[in-house]
Amino acid sequence: MAISIKTPEEIEKMRVAGRLAGEVLDHVAPFIKAGITTAEIDKICHDYTVNVQGAIPAPLNYAPSGYNPYPKSICTSVNHQVCHGVPGDRVLKNGDIVNIDVTPIKDGYHGDTSRMYFIGEPSIQARRLCEITFECLWLGISVVRPGGRIGDIGAIIQKHAENNGYSVVREFCGHGIGAGFHEEPQITHYGKAGTGPVMEPGMIFTIEPMINAGKAGIREMADGWTIVTKDHSLSAQWEHTVLVTPTGYEVLTLSAGCRPKPDWIKA
Ligand code: MF3
Ligand code: CO
Ligand code: CO
Repeated sequence: MAISIKTPEEIEKMRVAGRLAGEVLDHVAPFIKAGITTAEIDKICHDYTVNVQGAIPAPLNYAPSGYNPYPKSICTSVNHQVCHGVPGDRVLKNGDIVNIDVTPIKDGYHGDTSRMYFIGEPSIQARRLCEITFECLWLGISVVRPGGRIGDIGAIIQKHAENNGYSVVREFCGHGIGAGFHEEPQITHYGKAGTGPVMEPGMIFTIEPMINAGKAGIREMADGWTIVTKDHSLSAQWEHTVLVTPTGYEVLTLSAGCRPKPDWIKA
């Protein structure tokens, strides 16, 4: 299957879904404090998505082949959890870092975004990891343009992560997105510039680097979903959904409360 080029009508629907995804994270942000459980965060996001936005949380019952249906509406990945953390009765405490990943479906189209949140005051090291990972996301976005290659994205992300002493998770990637949750192409967060598919206007995909403070290795937990670092080092992730435009890129998952692009990274 080739990489789909979205029509103007589809792009408009993806703009709406993307904004809604950002707004779920804006809505839940003030609740993410010491003492809340990840299941409570899930419920707040679920209820807002369904009852306020009239949208559907894509993760709920999502069942790619080889997986049991995902039991919750969002992913909450704490500390050494890399991604796909399943919300439950874990209570967040001072010093934790947590990634919240949401994917509402509106009018048949998906918006996919995630951010890191601090509980109280995490260590300097934890905050630095989140910062560098945020820069990795935006460096990846900054090379999106027609005629560029998908490998350009992973190359710039890997360089920044490794220059700062971190490692890039290999097993999970960004992905094409639209009417489908995970479409072609795969966007690896490592690789070689000038390789891979050519970017064309109308392509839409996510960039979602998972960066580990220690080694790159990961393991799956017994729940069949939650991914953790093998060496128990901290891991961080940020995600946006991005459109290739005739002149560069448009980030579809921006919202009023999202962190802006670092200004040293080119627009
Ligand atoms: N939102 C994740 C992504 O960025 C996918 C989560 S799938 C789930 O691709 F089933 F774990 F929710
Ligand atoms: Co994604
Ligand atoms: Co996501």
